[in-house]
Amino acid sequence: MKKILVVFGTRPEAIKMCPLIIKIREQPNMECCVCLTGQHREMLLQVMDSFGIIEDYNLNVMKESQTLTFLTGRIISEFDKVLINEHPDLVLVHGDTTSSFAASLVAFYHGISIGHVEAGLRTYNIKLPFPEEFNRQAIDLIGDMYFAPTNSAKLNLIKEGKSSENIFVTGNTVIDALQYTVKKDFMDENLEWAKGYRLIMLTAHRRESIDEKLEGIFETVKKLLREFDDIKVIFPIHKNPKIRKLASIVFENVDSIRIIEPLDVIKFHNYMAKSYLILTDSGGIQEEAPSLGVPVLVLRDVTERPEGIEAGVVKLAGTSEEMVYKATKELLTNQAEYEKMRMAVNPYGDGKASEYIVDALKARLSKNR
Ligand code: UD1
Ligand code: UDP
Repeated sequence: MKKILVVFGTRPEAIKMCPLIIKIREQPNMECCVCLTGQHREMLLQVMDSFGIIEDYNLNVMKESQTLTFLTGRIISEFDKVLINEHPDLVLVHGDTTSSFAASLVAFYHGISIGHVEAGLRTYNIKLPFPEEFNRQAIDLIGDMYFAPTNSAKLNLIKEGKSSENIFVTGNTVIDALQYTVKKDFMDENLEWAKGYRLIMLTAHRRESIDEKLEGIFETVKKLLREFDDIKVIFPIHKNPKIRKLASIVFENVDSIRIIEPLDVIKFHNYMAKSYLILTDSGGIQEEAPSLGVPVLVLRDVTERPEGIEAGVVKLAGTSEEMVYKATKELLTNQAEYEKMRMAVNPYGDGKASEYIVDALKARLSKNR
């Protein structure tokens, strides 16, 4: 029996790791231990509930407005105890969060193999996104198996000198997740409210935008809401108190926007599927939207996910008020341009990424007897 320890701490990691946990747990010769760092709390537990997965450990590290130093230190000291207790054959981490970086470092110190899901994404600007570009490069320095979602992620890893024997192009597990969530006839009260209007979903959370750029982006959305009376915005707001404070000030008394609590992933994916347009700085949403055929304007200056842009469904809108205004207005007024973006393509695999990852793990772990 081989033991895999899956560790993560935030909402997007959970959405992308749950389908994989389900697959690992179906294997007769594999044991799957799940450790939540608790970097997120409500937003993480919402996903665990949606997939019906119960964790073995929750390190519960989150505190309000946590700093990166606090988070990293707490995860390192708490996850160390879990590894000492569990002695897994391999630790699986995801993406580029502080949870993944800190847990990988602990596994490295213990000489335990590291499998990195969603490996190889890069901007090659170490401060954008901050601190995620550092986290993912650091994990890949000490990783043993790299599960790259696309060929271009694989090429980044090869360029950095990783051996192709350790790189597996699997697609992104987020596509596996969509198969659990999207339902054709989904409807609820918020969608009723937006019926007859063009629905725009808004999300925002990036650390590098919060202090300077987010206010301008919110002001731009307010301006567009005043200008266009046939749009409504739903903004499931991140739990970060800084974002909440800013949004409550900018959008005070604007009644064509609904600022609501983070949606569970089943609802969120169905809201996305019914949207006219998505404005977001999220990474995961850039990967989901092409499959759903919903245009996305990315509220960032760079992206490590070129596939959606190449496919034509995603556009980088930037972070300045003028650029976001121009890009959004274009899609609200130029129907031909909008239709060009509204195609469903799937650059992130065939929805079997979890299966491919499990196959690679089985083959590798059976060698290390
Ligand atoms: C983290 C990740 C980011 C990822 C994002 C997904 C890092 C450095 N950042 O950023 O890569 O894209 O998650 O959303 O790893 N909070 C709650 N409840 C929750 C979640 C958050 O109250 O369930 C509040 C807390 O006050 C917390 C703050 O939000 O301190 C920020 O959370 P944190 O995980 O530090 O940063 P994110 O911006 O969420
Ligand atoms: N999401 C969700 N509820 C919400 C907003 C987003 O379930 O209210 C999902 C979304 O579908 C995507 C993921 O959360 O799968 C993205 O998370 P986030 O934007 O927080 O992080 P990122 O992907 O940027 O790391």
